[in-house]
Amino acid sequence: MAIQWFPGHMHLTQKAIGERIKNIDVVIELLDARLPGSSANPMLAELTQGKPTLKVLNKQDLADPQRTAHWLAHYNSQNGTRAIGLDASVAMPAKALIKACFELAPNRGGMVKPMRVLICGIPNVGKSTLINTLTTRRAAKTGDEAGVTKLEQRISLADDFYLYDTPGVLWPRIIVAKSGYNLAASGAIGRNAFNEQEVALELLDYLKINYPALLEIRFKLDGVSAKTDEELLEAIGRKRGALQAGQRVNLQKSAEIAINDFRSGVLGRVTLETPEEFALWLAAGQTIDAQRQLKKEAIELDRKIRFKQIKNPQNAG
Ligand code: G4P
Repeated sequence: MAIQWFPGHMHLTQKAIGERIKNIDVVIELLDARLPGSSANPMLAELTQGKPTLKVLNKQDLADPQRTAHWLAHYNSQNGTRAIGLDASVAMPAKALIKACFELAPNRGGMVKPMRVLICGIPNVGKSTLINTLTTRRAAKTGDEAGVTKLEQRISLADDFYLYDTPGVLWPRIIVAKSGYNLAASGAIGRNAFNEQEVALELLDYLKINYPALLEIRFKLDGVSAKTDEELLEAIGRKRGALQAGQRVNLQKSAEIAINDFRSGVLGRVTLETPEEFALWLAAGQTIDAQRQLKKEAIELDRKIRFKQIKNPQNAG
């Protein structure tokens, strides 16, 4: 069962971004370095109308460094796009952000043409943490900007560098099933919106192929690649004492252990997708979505014909 999740108040956010984007030079898209493809928001690309974009692969401390380098190279090869890795331990994030934005929009700068940047990201990607760091550092001044929305924050990272943060949440319709699982595993989706066992099985399936040694070390297991996902979940629960009556493994608890150990990074530095894998998942998701859309339209047409709102096109003429 694929995951769907709609955290509300989207229209306001969409409107605020749509308004603000008119006076923006660069868009910063915060991504989760463990799942860059899945944590991107296709709706943002539509709203930002081809503006230069800085992809920030955040929480890089939790991600596989080799894969982060691969994702950065992938984004840096795209026109109008730059990418950098970041995490909460980086001492001067403003410096890196300012440098990359001026590379993307070199015609901006100075008091007459200050750099105007919009920062966006899905929930839990670390936006508040980054903004807190930026605003508690010396240079950052924050203030309200009249006109767009009262709650919008404007942060000055330098005299000629303004960072805008629009409130609210912009969440994409999830058309890639695997993205739903990866987002749930990362902590971006509310707990009640997914089944932990299902998410843990998907996570273990990926880990046993891509990071078997990390699983073996963390859970003191042998030969994880040869186990089925269900066997692996059970073995983890048994090793960690997640037992219930009759010495049976409590699979719910095992799932929570597997997900939490991934999320907190104690399992090790893991990235759940490569650019190549994500491209394949996206293509498959788009095909299924297009088929679903056609089916929906056919049902709607049939309904209209039955309720005689329109003539049956097959009987026309
Ligand atoms: P958001 O505004 O985008 O929704 O995200 P927020 O900054 O609230 O961060 C979400 C969670 O991610 C927080 O953890 C935060 O501490 C953690 N986080 C943010 N940046 C980084 C990073 O670079 N590396 C790591 N490892 N974690 C990061 P939490 O458990 O939800 O809260 P708390 O325990 O920190 O209070």
